[in-house]
Amino acid sequence: MYSVGIITSSDKGSAGLREDKGGPAIRSIIEKFSDDFKTEKYIIVPDEKDTLAESMIQMADVDGIDLIVTTGGTGFSKRDVTPEATLSVIERRTPGIPEAMRSISMKITLRAMLSRAEAGIRGNTLIINLPGSPKAIEEVLAPLLPSIKHGIDILQGRDAECARP
Ligand code: MTE
Repeated sequence: MYSVGIITSSDKGSAGLREDKGGPAIRSIIEKFSDDFKTEKYIIVPDEKDTLAESMIQMADVDGIDLIVTTGGTGFSKRDVTPEATLSVIERRTPGIPEAMRSISMKITLRAMLSRAEAGIRGNTLIINLPGSPKAIEEVLAPLLPSIKHGIDILQGRDAECARP
């Protein structure tokens, strides 16, 4: 069983001025993918680098979450700082994950090039940024999940084999 933490980065969402659709979309796609993933934490925070970084550290180090998925704050707006918060807390980048995300997304919209999403490892935790739009989440998350699960299996020593089924 792997625990999942979801962080929505949104000034309006955290102030209660907009319903968050991204967080629930992530939860439903991940839990549909596998009974092995269970959402244990879900928070909405403003687009503040320090708050985002502290939330990631809390989930990874204190709550022992295995997979943190963020949504929002990856674009070009001056308030979009989720990638910077992520880079400030991870120990190792996993660039293949955002590369795959953008590769899949670019076949759907060239605007996918505007997402600055990052991903990386902190201890036993994998942290992945997704864009904010529920449409983008629907488009990219499901295809990524089998490889993400394999990556966490290897990170945590639950699987040492990379042989393809
Ligand atoms: N990726 C997919 N698959 N589908 C989309 O519609 N929208 C893009 C991009 N990635 C999009 C996508 C757009 S328009 C932006 S501005 C960036 O994600 C950043 O979004 P964010 O600031 O909400 O994180």
